[in-house]
Amino acid sequence: MEKIVLPEIKDLHLIEVYENNGGYSAAKKAFARSTDDIIDEVKKSGLRGRGGAAFLAGLKWSFMPKTTNKPKYLCINGDESEPGSFKDRQIFEYNPHQLIEGILIASYAIGANTAYIYIRGEYHKWVKMMQKALDDAYAKGYVGDAMKATFGTDFSCNIYVHKGAGAYICGEESSLMNSIEGHRGYPRVKPPFPAQNGLWGCPTTINNVETITNVPWIINNGWQKFASIGAEKHPGTILYGISGHVNKPGVYELPSGMLLTELIYEVAGGVPGDKKIKCVIPGGSSMPPLRGDQLEGIRMDAESLKAAGSAIGTAGIMVMDEDTDLLKVLLRIAKFYHHESCGQCTPCREGTGWLEKILKRLASGKGTSSDLDLLITVANNIEGNTICALGDAAAWPVKFMVARFRDEFEKYVNKEIQLPVKNKVHAMRGTAVPLADIKH
Ligand SMILES: Cc1cc2nc3c(=O)[nH]c(=O)nc-3n(C[C@H](O)[C@H](O)[C@H](O)COP(=O)(O)O)c2cc1C
Ligand code: SF4
Repeated sequence: MEKIVLPEIKDLHLIEVYENNGGYSAAKKAFARSTDDIIDEVKKSGLRGRGGAAFLAGLKWSFMPKTTNKPKYLCINGDESEPGSFKDRQIFEYNPHQLIEGILIASYAIGANTAYIYIRGEYHKWVKMMQKALDDAYAKGYVGDAMKATFGTDFSCNIYVHKGAGAYICGEESSLMNSIEGHRGYPRVKPPFPAQNGLWGCPTTINNVETITNVPWIINNGWQKFASIGAEKHPGTILYGISGHVNKPGVYELPSGMLLTELIYEVAGGVPGDKKIKCVIPGGSSMPPLRGDQLEGIRMDAESLKAAGSAIGTAGIMVMDEDTDLLKVLLRIAKFYHHESCGQCTPCREGTGWLEKILKRLASGKGTSSDLDLLITVANNIEGNTICALGDAAAWPVKFMVARFRDEFEKYVNKEIQLPVKNKVHAMRGTAVPLADIKH
């Protein structure tokens, strides 16, 4: 596969440097074209969402109603709370103006005069950096009313940075909107979908930070060029976040569809001590884990990962070497989703607690082989039966980790290993269910 080496531009986060490198010229070009034309360009580029579901960005924009007497909104999702994902913050830090320019173009295309950049509560540093970039863009007349004169257009857009309060669930698009509205971050039942009934009941589009940051490049270079990069059905570059047992962890911008093994061994420098890989989670902690001995030929794009029994998610690749205790890993993941469940629906509220409890029982050496089946049953009963996809996010790692690494988990059943469980099993939120009841 052809490798693209992107020039590293020093201080690109500064507005003058961004301007000197062609910054805000894509917005000017876009405003001179029709909104349908821009949507069409993004559709043809094949740009897919980088926030988890890999949905086609142009198609999503086309769902926005053309005629409505309500205001329309754009929300940029920078909640980035999925364990293993740390790429959007690179954009806030190193390339915030390309995000702002992307927001202007996307807002124009969908007819939104207001956009929000929702940033995760813990990202204090990046909230400040993004706000500084936005202030500079306002001062230069690229955002707000002044942009009409700057770009010679009738269109204007105000952009606001909205800081979350540190809840993973607020990354789910409908609870993100509730959070912006000042309500508790509860996901909404869909339909209606945001394009019909979003922020304050008005048509709204929600896109990930990285998705929107691709847009100025597409306008400047044309859809054909974007579509020619990387995997045919999932084109463009991707910010791969590689962490865990690799020599050079980090975020790497490279074409989509890279071989997972190439990313781990060549880009991220391989595994410390040349140890074997036991497990890889390819797209953030909620994606189905892959066995280390079955990575050959798997590429980092939506189609290839689906065929391999996983998904691209946020392209946050977590590498675990042969010495990793997978029960420890899974218990940590299960605890996270249990803690982050908003509690609205029973399968997720109760099921995530049961998963954690059963895993703790296995870790303490009191588990049985049937507990392994029980984990899969509970996960199956959560999956697809909840208001939002946090239920699936909690179910998948458990279901697939246990099924794909059963041998590892049997070691606990056979008392070959026992984890020191430091924390007592906490009572679950809502109605506490006695463990004995789960078995019936
Ligand atoms: C529990 C949960 C958490 C999510 N967290 C994020 C997040 O932090 N950032 C993000 O972009 N998408 C997140 N998503 C996906 C969003 O709901 C939405 O699909 C995405 O922002 C759409 O952007 P895209 O089409 O550009 O990928 C999350 C989904 C769920 C169910
Ligand atoms: S699936 Fe979980 S997080 Fe999502 S609405 Fe239901 S209880 Fe809340």
